[in-house]
Amino acid sequence: MSGTEHKLWGGRFAGGPAPALVAVNRSITTDLRLWPFDIQLSQAWARGLVSAGVLTAPEAEAVVAGLDRVAGRIAAGEAPMASDEDVHTFVDRLLHVEAGEPASRLHTGRSRNDQVATGTRLWAMDACDRVTLMVREVQGALVAQAELHVEALMPAYTHLQRAQPVSVCHWLLSHFWPLERDLARLAAARAGAAVLPLGSGAIAGSAFPVPREQLREVLGFQSISPNSIDAVGDRDFVAEVLFALSLLGAHLSRIGEDLILFGSSEFGFVRFGDAFSTGSSMMPQKRNPDALELARGSGARLLGDLTALLATLKGLPSGYNKDLQEDKRSLFGAVDAVTLLLPAVAGSIATLTFDRARMRAAVTSAMMATDLADYLVRKRVTFRDSHGAVGRLVREAEEKGIEMTALSFESYAKAHPAFDRDVYAELDPESSLRHRELPGGTGLMAVREQLRVAAALLQ
Ligand code: ARG
Repeated sequence: MSGTEHKLWGGRFAGGPAPALVAVNRSITTDLRLWPFDIQLSQAWARGLVSAGVLTAPEAEAVVAGLDRVAGRIAAGEAPMASDEDVHTFVDRLLHVEAGEPASRLHTGRSRNDQVATGTRLWAMDACDRVTLMVREVQGALVAQAELHVEALMPAYTHLQRAQPVSVCHWLLSHFWPLERDLARLAAARAGAAVLPLGSGAIAGSAFPVPREQLREVLGFQSISPNSIDAVGDRDFVAEVLFALSLLGAHLSRIGEDLILFGSSEFGFVRFGDAFSTGSSMMPQKRNPDALELARGSGARLLGDLTALLATLKGLPSGYNKDLQEDKRSLFGAVDAVTLLLPAVAGSIATLTFDRARMRAAVTSAMMATDLADYLVRKRVTFRDSHGAVGRLVREAEEKGIEMTALSFESYAKAHPAFDRDVYAELDPESSLRHRELPGGTGLMAVREQLRVAAALLQ
């Protein structure tokens, strides 16, 4: 019985669809994963049809129980038939086997247009929750490393040139906050998805007075769609999820890029853990950060998913159009990509070891030039004059091939009369940090406070 071909449409055609049409139209290989939500929303719909006077309560309960059995069958691995066009057809076919006649009343007043919009929204809301937990894992790995390295120093870079000394914790947390913003965007995208289309029918609204507020409540939506034409053609929520994931992908890519650079022999700041390093088939010495490179690489595909969806939406006439079936490829592809990446990035971070001596050694005295200029400013020299004076000192040290610390006091006095012998203390990188205790700065107290706030967000 379950092996009989089942169609949700076709009565008005003399013959069947051409194989080429069936093939291009068939979406079940993509949308099968909507099944738990399709079942959930159909159960709510069955009960809604009781209030609408379409089903009796016993009929609705027979449908609900039948859908539970359908869920059991699919969960146990029941495969769709070649003739199942999409997940809705598949579930409907199995339901007819499980529930008999009442199953034939379930599709009253609804269309696959409001059905798929509802199911995709439920899936997207769930995906946002899952991705959120995985982003938290990456943040947790950053915070755990950051806690170990508050007092360790490293160069911060601008233009990838050594700029100023910072706490290693400060650099690690610089990757925490973009992820925090990603979580806010995911939460907003989830809220954007939490608008119930069910009850919109194909385009004009259901002809039966289904209690939409009750459906909203039972299915966990925040509001109901105010316009049935808009509701069946609206995929803004998919675009919003995809944008949030694209930017998340960009942030993972930037974490990856920093670590790939810092793990190179030239930097040598970090070493990748064995469990997150790959070897080479040819070069026995290699320790490659593949997961991080894939984080960088997948960012491109995420952008592609967002672009594909936006291009699909642009130029569509109002209401549902089959183009919209493509939304799920992009949405699922992007969620799948970050679902693979996030644990790999979290693990790559958690298993890093830091070569603190090497990071510290990369903090050269020339990086204290700004601090020297600030020193003169504290003695009431204008910043412009200080900048010029220190610039001359940097040039002198460079020409002599020595560190700023090795320049004689005569050189300092010649560069600017406001220099005192206490200037050498200013060349200590720790003193640079001490001057930066304002909120958001790399002073150690400020960094500890930042770390406290970050850790609290993980609770
Ligand atoms: N598989 C379709 C999709 O994903 C379901 C909606 C089909 N609606 C229709 N009028 N053919 O968009």
